[in-house]
Amino acid sequence: MSNLPNLCVQLAPRRPEGLILSNPVMIAAGIAGYGIEYAEIVDIQKLGAIVCKGTTLMPKKGNVQPRLVETADGLLNSVGWENIGVDALIGEKAPVWAGWQVPVIVNIAGETIDEYIAVSSKLEGVPGVSGIELNISCPNVSAGGMEFGVDPKLAARVTSAVKAATTLPVIVKLSPNVTDIKEIALAVEEAGADAISLINTLKSMAIDINQGKPCLGNITGGLSGPAIKPVALYMVFEAARVVRIPVIGCGGIACAEDALEFIMAGATAIQIGTANLTNPALSLDILEGIKRFMLDKGVGKLTDLIGVAQDKP
Ligand SMILES: Cc1cc2nc3c(=O)[nH]c(=O)nc-3n(C[C@H](O)[C@H](O)[C@H](O)COP(=O)(O)O)c2cc1C
Repeated sequence: MSNLPNLCVQLAPRRPEGLILSNPVMIAAGIAGYGIEYAEIVDIQKLGAIVCKGTTLMPKKGNVQPRLVETADGLLNSVGWENIGVDALIGEKAPVWAGWQVPVIVNIAGETIDEYIAVSSKLEGVPGVSGIELNISCPNVSAGGMEFGVDPKLAARVTSAVKAATTLPVIVKLSPNVTDIKEIALAVEEAGADAISLINTLKSMAIDINQGKPCLGNITGGLSGPAIKPVALYMVFEAARVVRIPVIGCGGIACAEDALEFIMAGATAIQIGTANLTNPALSLDILEGIKRFMLDKGVGKLTDLIGVAQDKP
């Protein structure tokens, strides 16, 4: 009998088919494009899942340069929705994913509910696509994106519209730029979300004092990286207290200990974003670190760790 820990997690318990990952370590949207170049440098098949770059109905160029600024322990980005569009994704990327063992989840974005519906309908039945992550939390676009994620009614409307348009598992990605994360989490759960992921970036900015103007071409951007971890952890803890669907934790995770904090706060899985940009092998290191922790502590199933910190004041 093997004494290796069981790392399997279920991300869509509401669906008869479910969405089982072999482990809880996922790559966050926008970090590894469509995963194809990333697969050349890291054995991504060992990961729990990959989330691809935000995808819209038509291809988009994204925002004006400069789009990236480093901050203290963080990264400010205003990339926006630069992507190849859903048709090219289906024609060029999904056939590659169909040969992979690791599930790929498509992060989708739109300016209107109809656009979200159109993108998700096109993804229905496409081999290689294992689920949808509904991005209602991008702070870097003028229309759509975050505006759906800060209003519980709109968040619920877009969620139920997408659920009606697809049989794929639907993960709704929430924004931290809200007064009460619990309200939005409950609204999308009620509207049929299979899981929620949080957090997307925090709306923020930086100013170049020599030029006397904002550093980003877009003026504002979204903050990510280790600087946001305590905020993200708190929001995951709060959301996990009120919803029954799985919560996917994201925000500043840079080591296995960070990942374990999110899991103990109530996350069923975790996504690694910015920290993976400085060390592409980090996701696999984090997976190994989680396994080592479980072996050291004699924890047989990862699910036994989920939310343990919720019970302790
Ligand atoms: C350069 C960049 C691009 C991103 N693109 C997307 C995107 O297309 N869709 C999305 O939902 N989130 C996007 N994000 C947000 C990340 O997926 C993640 O939610 C956020 O960065 C917080 O996690 P981190 O601190 O580990 O990076 C992007 C983040 C960065 C840094």
